[in-house]
Amino acid sequence: MRFSSYAIPLALAGFTLADPTLQQMLGFLQQFNIDISYPANIQVAKSINYTGFTEGQELNTEYLFGVFAGIANGAVAGTPLIGIPLNGTLLDLVIENNIMIVTTLRDFNWTVAIDPTIWQIKFMFNDDGLVTQYDGILYRSSALYADVLPKVAQAAMAELNLPANISQTVALQTRAATDICAGHEAFCTGANQQYNSTADCMDFVMNAIPMGDVWQSGQNTAFCRYLHTTMVQLRPTVHCPHIGPSGGDMCFDHTYESMVQSPFPQPFVALPDNLTLANLGL
Ligand SMILES: *[C@@H]1O[C@H](CO)[C@@H](O)[C@H](O)[C@H]1NC(C)=O
Ligand SMILES: *[C@@H]1O[C@H](CO)[C@@H](O)[C@H](O)[C@H]1NC(C)=O
Ligand SMILES: *[C@@H]1O[C@H](CO)[C@@H](O)[C@H](O)[C@H]1NC(C)=O
Ligand SMILES: *[C@@H]1O[C@H](CO)[C@@H](O)[C@H](O)[C@H]1NC(C)=O
Ligand SMILES: *[C@@H]1O[C@H](CO)[C@@H](O)[C@H](O)[C@H]1NC(C)=O
Ligand SMILES: *[C@@H]1O[C@H](CO)[C@@H](O)[C@H](O)[C@H]1NC(C)=O
Repeated sequence: MRFSSYAIPLALAGFTLADPTLQQMLGFLQQFNIDISYPANIQVAKSINYTGFTEGQELNTEYLFGVFAGIANGAVAGTPLIGIPLNGTLLDLVIENNIMIVTTLRDFNWTVAIDPTIWQIKFMFNDDGLVTQYDGILYRSSALYADVLPKVAQAAMAELNLPANISQTVALQTRAATDICAGHEAFCTGANQQYNSTADCMDFVMNAIPMGDVWQSGQNTAFCRYLHTTMVQLRPTVHCPHIGPSGGDMCFDHTYESMVQSPFPQPFVALPDNLTLANLGL
């Protein structure tokens, strides 16, 4: 099934359930699938406040929509290290009470390749049908990046006129540093300035921190600063520190223990007959 041809059956129109209704949740999914894809994600990112969410709308809008619109909105140039979401196909859909779990095969455009990706997102809704929390997983991300990055590195070498004897990592890090430092120069000015000059920025990103693997996109790496470069044009005051030497409250080395703690106010639990974990002794 393709999302573009997916319509909520009219039969559901009069269907009543405990809030949120099935119709509200499916309506959210239908709109979300349009909004996450190019080119709708460019405008949604600029809106900053996505109307489908209750809490932390600004950061959530920037993360879900802005990060993946980077090359399309001019935040990064050349071959992107983060692809642009295109069309998707629904693989799994589970809805129980106020929880929806959706798995999607979605093509991403890395300019040098169109690669399929698999995402699973869990959404929790409130009684008004708005999302109060969500969690997304990119399946097989290491294998995805192992497939894509050699092609991106090769393109970066040509784009940036890099010598043929450098490593793939240095090529990718030069691509990242070039875009981070251009973004800094364009948007992180005045009180938001993080580096004394573009040359200082290039030196820091190339030499003081590692490039980082995909799992390190929130660590003290060039990859993390590249990801946040897609957002500096949206709200420079919030995002410029993330691409600076300190990494702000985003690009620093989180411990493994902190990464495996649930950040969610509520567990994603939805059992038949309104059973709770306590009812089951779990
Ligand atoms: C987003 O919405 C909140 C709450 O309505 C508001 O305070 C904030 O200024 C909005 N942010 C932007 C960037 O429009
Ligand atoms: C996206 O659309 C193209 C062209 O219609 C199609 O070939 C491809 O299978 C679609 N990809 C996904 C993941 O649905
Ligand atoms: C992928 O991105 C490139 C560069 O932005 C663009 O020229 C191409 O048309 C895009 N392909 C698809 C299928 O969107
Ligand atoms: C690459 O080649 C250049 C000039 O040919 C040389 O100066 C440089 O040290 C080489 N770099 C590496 C990493 O081998
Ligand atoms: C900028 O220059 C000042 C004065 O030389 C120095 O103290 C500071 O550490 C520099 N900042 C960065 C981020 O390099
Ligand atoms: C579950 O709880 C909701 C809200 O309290 C209620 O409307 C609904 O009837 C309950 N469902 C069942 C199967 O008990």
